Amino acid sequence: MSEALEKAQSFEYKHAPSILEEQRPLFHLTPTIGWMNDPNGFSYYKGEYHLFYQYHPYSTEWGPMHWGHAKTKDFIHWERLPVAMAPDKEYDKAGCFSGSATVLPDGRHLLVYTGVQKRLMPDGDIKETQTQCLAIGDGVNYEKWSNNPVLTQEDLPTGGSSVDFRDPKVWQEPDGSYRLVVGNRTEDGSGAVLLYKSENGLDWSLVGSVDASQRQYGMMWECPDFFSLDGQQVLLISPQEMRPMGLEFHAGNGTVCIIGSYDKEKNHFSREHVQAIDYGIDFYAPQTLEIADGRRIMIGWMQNWNTLGEKPRDYRWFGQMSIPRELSIQNGRLIQTPIRELEQYRCNRVVYQNVPVSGETELQNVEGRIIDMTLNIRPVPGDLYNCFQVNLAKDEECVTTLRYQLDTSILKIDRTYSGCSADVVHTRSLMVRHCDGALKLRILMDRYSIEVFVNDGEQAVSTAIFTRQTACAISFEAVGSVILDVEKYDIQLT
Ligand code: FRU
Repeated sequence: MSEALEKAQSFEYKHAPSILEEQRPLFHLTPTIGWMNDPNGFSYYKGEYHLFYQYHPYSTEWGPMHWGHAKTKDFIHWERLPVAMAPDKEYDKAGCFSGSATVLPDGRHLLVYTGVQKRLMPDGDIKETQTQCLAIGDGVNYEKWSNNPVLTQEDLPTGGSSVDFRDPKVWQEPDGSYRLVVGNRTEDGSGAVLLYKSENGLDWSLVGSVDASQRQYGMMWECPDFFSLDGQQVLLISPQEMRPMGLEFHAGNGTVCIIGSYDKEKNHFSREHVQAIDYGIDFYAPQTLEIADGRRIMIGWMQNWNTLGEKPRDYRWFGQMSIPRELSIQNGRLIQTPIRELEQYRCNRVVYQNVPVSGETELQNVEGRIIDMTLNIRPVPGDLYNCFQVNLAKDEECVTTLRYQLDTSILKIDRTYSGCSADVVHTRSLMVRHCDGALKLRILMDRYSIEVFVNDGEQAVSTAIFTRQTACAISFEAVGSVILDVEKYDIQLT
């Protein structure tokens, strides 16, 4: 084991136990200690699901990237494992960036990641260059492959950037061969997704480009994923430097889902529908995994590069993963629902039906910060309301609101008054499909986050909140009158 890895492991071992479990989310994964960004290496290995993540154990700031490691049987209970990789080789000294995992024909676990290295360029500049590298292991210990890097600038198409060449997502084809997609920057400076193939998982060659931004959907395309789902082909990307487009895409680091069709033989992908993956404040770099029962599960970093200013001081962790989400396609849209395993941990059911709401109402036993709550909102027959609002994580000073304006069909999440002290984005608005005033919201809260699934998963809205935990009231408000059903559970881990 390298000195850098040993140091990181003993740092975790020594300091992580000082973080109280009550100071973490209950069922969302956080780093063992320090900083976490992208999910990496989401894979099934020897009967368990593994998840690695971009990791800097030594502080709650981004730093030389390691790979943190955890595993789960049910996507809800996470078991922490020792940090799996440190930046300890010439080709990854500046960081082990994002990547993915699969299984080799001989049963070993294969990690595919981006090695970052500082290099003297022909023009005399020192630039970071990125190559794709492998590590092989047994589910706990990993060793970097002796032939690293396996994809370098030599393997790029003409004009492809060796500075922005990262985030390989690997999978195995039904015939046993392997493919990976990786983000790249083309000659026009904007993003592309490249496809590579391998017979054995170790030796790789370029197939070609799958799709490119052409400066339309942001610049560098980070963390691509590419898979078939419900008879269609899906390309997920996390572009940098996006420009806003209506309420669909906001400026900065965004998430984009492109649904289309794919001719595998010709490597030709044609776009049919383009949408945001998540419409909230904090979501980025999601990665998916197809599990044995056929479900395609996606997990994302429930944070965004643009909102890092909003960070609690005196915590020894920062960054959390989203709830794993089941994906499907309906009517050309990506549908996301919280992984069904969560339902096993629901308790203390509280139900209200046909509650008239006008003005502000609290309902007995509807409160909490670790909850799974579904709201069905509908107009009083013949009498359309103006707007409906739910107030979450509330006390006399703090509140995070979800407000639905019926005439515009705009839903807005607002955490301005959630105890924030940084002047970053605290609101997002999204256009919801108009259903004559009917709206269904499933709201998950887990101490430091809110995830909203609108109309059975047609849209997802995720945000971190660092509101003090004593702010746990919930209330409902309407301008005009609505009829409300509430089904609320606490989540408890057994
Ligand atoms: C996305 C990203 C990746 C990169 C990693 C570095 O959030 O910028 O492109 O691999 O984070 O930590």
